[in-house]
Amino acid sequence: MKYIGPRVMYHRLLSRRFVNQFSRSCYQFGHEENQESGAPRARKYTKMLLGASVGTLLAYKFYDYRNNAVVLAESPEMKMGNVGVAKADLPVYTLHEVSEHSTKEKRIWVTYKEGVYDITDFVTEHPGGDQILLAAGSSVEPFWLLYAVHNNPHVLQILETLRIGNVSKEDSQQLVADMSDPYSTDPQRHAALKPASVKPFNAETPPFLLVEQFITPNELFYVRNHLPVPQVDPETYELEVEVEGRKKCLVLTLDEIKKLPRHTITATIMCAGNRRSEMVKVKPVKGLNWGAAAVGTATWTGVRLRDVLIKLGVDEDDKKLKHVQFEGLDFDPTGKTYGASVPLWKAMSKRGDVILAYEMNGEAIPRDHGFPIRVIVPGVVGARNVKWLGRIVVSENESDSHWQQNDYKGFSPSTDWDTVDFTKSPAIQELPVISAICKPSEGEKVKVEDGHIVVKGYAWSGGGQKIARVDVTADGGSTWFVANLDHQDSAEPPQHWSWTLWSARIPIPSGTKQVELWAKAVDSCYNTQPETFKNIWNLRGVLSNAYHRIKIKLV
Ligand code: MTE
Repeated sequence: MKYIGPRVMYHRLLSRRFVNQFSRSCYQFGHEENQESGAPRARKYTKMLLGASVGTLLAYKFYDYRNNAVVLAESPEMKMGNVGVAKADLPVYTLHEVSEHSTKEKRIWVTYKEGVYDITDFVTEHPGGDQILLAAGSSVEPFWLLYAVHNNPHVLQILETLRIGNVSKEDSQQLVADMSDPYSTDPQRHAALKPASVKPFNAETPPFLLVEQFITPNELFYVRNHLPVPQVDPETYELEVEVEGRKKCLVLTLDEIKKLPRHTITATIMCAGNRRSEMVKVKPVKGLNWGAAAVGTATWTGVRLRDVLIKLGVDEDDKKLKHVQFEGLDFDPTGKTYGASVPLWKAMSKRGDVILAYEMNGEAIPRDHGFPIRVIVPGVVGARNVKWLGRIVVSENESDSHWQQNDYKGFSPSTDWDTVDFTKSPAIQELPVISAICKPSEGEKVKVEDGHIVVKGYAWSGGGQKIARVDVTADGGSTWFVANLDHQDSAEPPQHWSWTLWSARIPIPSGTKQVELWAKAVDSCYNTQPETFKNIWNLRGVLSNAYHRIKIKLV
């Protein structure tokens, strides 16, 4: 750890500016307003990534395959330790090549660790099932995290019989690199993510997977990027921390950050635009058409921001300092970096749990989620959880970034683009209470068993509040059923940062052919969700937390 004076600082800024200028000419897409212009391209990529829609969940099917069809040779090759390990005699494929094999016509390939597998014949022999084969052209590993019961030696051994090659991670990065495209060095994504835009990459998890496990696997965690993903070398990475107007500045390497006391929290991160696609039905808004899965929960490990700021000499009672600004290492065509800020009280509070995270679910933070360091501000809107953190500034003022000043704010339903004044609305910080039904999905045919159906979903509230209750109705609110809170963190408010997964068994009168299900949550402050979107509509489509309603068919 070292302190640097303003001179060194100036050189750092200059070199950063140079990098920015060098890359400037490459840009095509920028802020969210422009993203929709990439729609045809996005559709092409979406098709490429989600080309496959056959079979049932991979892990389950392999399990089934073992039980019905395959007699395995008990050769040393088949020992567990060999599964997914690189084999010298097999061809090497890039992840990009694997992603092109997502349909039966092109053959269906998947990866497991360093292995590439052709599962086309397996899938052909086992048709049916009602869930898409989400891993086609991608890795099966996140599914085995979700469906842990199938992550056993037998299933892996069967997979190994379908081995055709090895994964080349380096090649995959070089293959997609294209100097005219600033997104060409973005990481490979899992085929199961449902893109809302490809450049920049924005994608959500299939909702039914969200409720399988309390923790969302890294590869399936929603991604919200405004700009290309920066390539950061962990060896040379430095985080600058300063107080505006003061000469002293703290510079921390990744190793130095990791030597500070570790702190782990479990926290849900949600985009302000989650469930925007429902608000749009009232009136169009500007923004990505998110469904109900721009949200996920992970354990985050890092160091307390409070500890770092105290090291810098910040006094939490300082009356002048009010905000902590974060600057990412991703930048727009004008060289401006992504930025946001949170109030100083949140950053300094012992109970605020704001951390500079370097691990997500026990692994180094993946590139899409902010490698090597991102700030996690639990209970606060995703936009303030700045990824690829390059600089922290304690200041009298909020961040002057576009995303703090002219985006991620709420307005009256009567405010339109002619009358909007962004200076009049506060930047969103803590998010209001929300819930969503994840299983079944809109329009799904659901089997009534024993006169009941089972409904599953998530509920969450910002500001460290806990979900106190979730109510579900199938008759327009005449009768409400209290859902079972299946998975809930034991942390108490105001430090309850994670969602609650719930389920409800709803009685269905015989002969009913279809119903509309509604869900609403109540948090520990007894705040609840608004009934409809009509009166919370806003031109950016944020804070979209009205009752979740889905229509399903009954069989
Ligand atoms: N940080 C940087 N540097 N650049 C970004 O584009 N997007 C923000 C936030 N942090 C963003 C960022 C938004 S709007 C959200 S919702 C979350 O990251 C999404 O985090 P995730 O991609 O890890 O899910």
